[in-house]
Amino acid sequence: MTSFILNERLISTGERPGLTVLEFVRDVSCLSGTKEACREGECGACTVLVGRRGADGAVSYKACASCLLPIGDVDGCHVVTVEGLSGAELTLVQKLIVEHSASQCGFCTPGIVLSLTGFCLGAKKLSYEGAVDALDGNICRCTGYVSIRNAARALCASLAKMDLPPAKRLGELAAAGVVPAYFKEIPARLARLEAEPAAAGGNAVLVAGGTDLFVQKPGQLIDSELCFLSRRPDLNYIKIDGGVLRVGGAVTIEEFRLSPEVLLHFPALEKDFLRHSSAILRNKATLAGNVVNASPIGDATVILLALDARMVITGTGGRREVPLSKFYLSYKKTDLGCSELVSEIVIPLLPEGARYHFEKISNRATLDTAAVNSALLLTTGPGGAITDLKLSAGGVAEVPLLLNTESFKGQKLDAETVEALARAAEGEARPIDDIRGSAAYKKLLLGQLVRAHFASTAAAGEAV
Ligand SMILES: Cc1cc2nc3c(=O)[nH]c(=O)nc-3n(C[C@H](O)[C@H](O)[C@H](O)COP(=O)(O)OP(=O)(O)OC[C@H]3O[C@@H](n4cnc5c(N)ncnc54)[C@H](O)[C@@H]3O)c2cc1C
Ligand code: FES
Ligand code: FES
Repeated sequence: MTSFILNERLISTGERPGLTVLEFVRDVSCLSGTKEACREGECGACTVLVGRRGADGAVSYKACASCLLPIGDVDGCHVVTVEGLSGAELTLVQKLIVEHSASQCGFCTPGIVLSLTGFCLGAKKLSYEGAVDALDGNICRCTGYVSIRNAARALCASLAKMDLPPAKRLGELAAAGVVPAYFKEIPARLARLEAEPAAAGGNAVLVAGGTDLFVQKPGQLIDSELCFLSRRPDLNYIKIDGGVLRVGGAVTIEEFRLSPEVLLHFPALEKDFLRHSSAILRNKATLAGNVVNASPIGDATVILLALDARMVITGTGGRREVPLSKFYLSYKKTDLGCSELVSEIVIPLLPEGARYHFEKISNRATLDTAAVNSALLLTTGPGGAITDLKLSAGGVAEVPLLLNTESFKGQKLDAETVEALARAAEGEARPIDDIRGSAAYKKLLLGQLVRAHFASTAAAGEAV
């Protein structure tokens, strides 16, 4: 049995856990405000809010693509569709959308309303830039983004005085008309509806964010036994410990991107991870899921390779650690055994004076997979000699690559060395022709990305 609160109503359903929330709200609950379009996480028309109760009793809300969200994953949660915002009056977000003419045919509008409402509930700071980032997964094909952004700007201006942290903001948001008053009762109602911890047999499919799985094989998953990592609080942590960052296997990309530890020790990642998918996916997609799905162009994977990350793998046979650079065996094949999971990702803190940089080439700035991506970690010693160099590349081989840079250690970092590195990277690349570009084009791109790494660190005032 799966139990959750859908808007104001308690649901207890025997539907299969792999049924998507989109299918449940539209076909079972007959709530048609949540729209169905791509069913692949690409458009945002199906956005809903998922409120999950934390250890402190507060409920944190995230906007998610309901087409990739199985109902088993919202057991014990509050799911909000646009109907759940309806009251006698429009909400503040809805009023501003009307006032700024930010809706035309209206197909995208429920998703936009939910994404902006989720931003008000969950963002640490209610800034206009943050509101625009929160909308990066909501595509509108007829209004034009200027009026949508104007509504977002007006929303942030209306809430400018709200400085309470998200966990304490619910009362004020209800008073400001952002959410209906019944939201205030939800934490207590969820407390009476605790979800079962994840327990499953050995053949269960591990579902982390589900953003890859539910694109690849939704038909198969509906009849499978599923094990949801979002119900493993023991895998949901980010901490600094003895010179490394430890990230639990259930941490989402958005939690990672905005965590105090990442903002302090890896500040560039806040922007770099904005290039990964979109907010409604990053709110579910996990760092470990990105690594395990073994895409040759996974953005997190390519960044983690350059950062020299290690995977902590746990299974019935115990616990072992594998460098990410040794984790991929061949195309989509990893070192994971069938009873094993990635329980933690270990990232060494940057050495003093190290330079890190990430580049991604894709057709669109956000919500697009890379044609080629690459990350660099560089340390130099006295006189500008290279003391350590990690250079990763995605989209140029059957697995994400950590390039062989051994022979460049000790060399002076100058224009000639950078050029030699770019050519060596092109030489090591073995891309294939596909929809994202020809093999020859991808080789050239990789060379250019290597040059861009160094041009960018030089532009930032760090002479090369
Ligand atoms: C519209 C769209 C845009 C996207 N854009 C990008 C992008 O810009 N960049 C990018 O890199 N990717 C992108 N992706 C791909 C995908 O979202 C990411 O790879 C994501 O990080 C996968 O994580 P997840 O938690 O959703 O994985 P899931 O789908 O839950 O799982 C993926 C696989 O990993 C396994 N798994 C998950 N966690 C663990 C674990 N801890 N231990 C063992 N096995 C595990 C699962 O069983 C499954 O086989 C996009 C996907 C979509 C649909
Ligand atoms: S239907 Fe397009 S993102 Fe879900
Ligand atoms: S209003 Fe028509 S798609 Fe956005």
